[in-house]
Amino acid sequence: MAHEHDHDHDYDLETMYTQETWDARYAESERIWSGRPNQRLVDEGAHLSPGRALDVGCGEGADAVWLAGRGWRVTALDVSEVALARVREHAAEAGVDDRVETLRHDLVAGGAAPGRYDLVSVFFFQPPPLLFDDFYRGLAHLVDPGGSLLVVGHHPDDVATGVRQSHGPQLMFTPDQVVGLLDPEAWEVVTEASPKREQALPEGPAIVRDTVVRAVRK
Ligand SMILES: C[S@@+](CC[C@H](N)C(=O)[O-])C[C@H]1O[C@@H](n2cnc3c(N)ncnc32)[C@H](O)[C@@H]1O
Repeated sequence: MAHEHDHDHDYDLETMYTQETWDARYAESERIWSGRPNQRLVDEGAHLSPGRALDVGCGEGADAVWLAGRGWRVTALDVSEVALARVREHAAEAGVDDRVETLRHDLVAGGAAPGRYDLVSVFFFQPPPLLFDDFYRGLAHLVDPGGSLLVVGHHPDDVATGVRQSHGPQLMFTPDQVVGLLDPEAWEVVTEASPKREQALPEGPAIVRDTVVRAVRK
């Protein structure tokens, strides 16, 4: 992968997707994320019939635990073993550890994930631009007929509003960048939206915009 470092932005594609980086980040504190499921998952997932789910870049597992609590059998995938240990701990606390398995896999250096699923969810994973198409096409490939691909990311509007200066503007993506990868013969796009929400950022509460795509394989 090309080394891209933009001095206006605090990110480095060489290191930002490695186990070392994320294990160190998670090890800095007992909990990074809120422990609550992402609102977009609750909105989009509440009416889906449970089956097999893959949560990609699952972090500490709040989404995986929420899905398991609704009857899904969840594979929680992340590059960080420190994060996955937390997933197992939180799943056990919630009494759903029999429905959550963890999978340490590097989706950038290690290629496609294994398995077939009724839901592949990807929350706030901003792949390297050069891999963007292969990354989301590869994940779409894992969805069985009738199943959903649910992608939620940071919308590029947040760069213009100054909310996410340090995240790397070229890593943010719009819904049509994901929808454009899906063959319309094979997919029905159910949600293609860019809604706003309030988020507590280190600098204080801010209004941010999400990219939200849910598509069902025909
Ligand atoms: C911004 S966090 C999102 C966590 C969670 N999905 C959420 O919404 O709270 C991105 C996650 O992707 C994981 N990740 C980063 N690089 C990865 C890679 N190469 N392969 C798999 N997971 C990776 C990180 O460890 C981290 O947990």
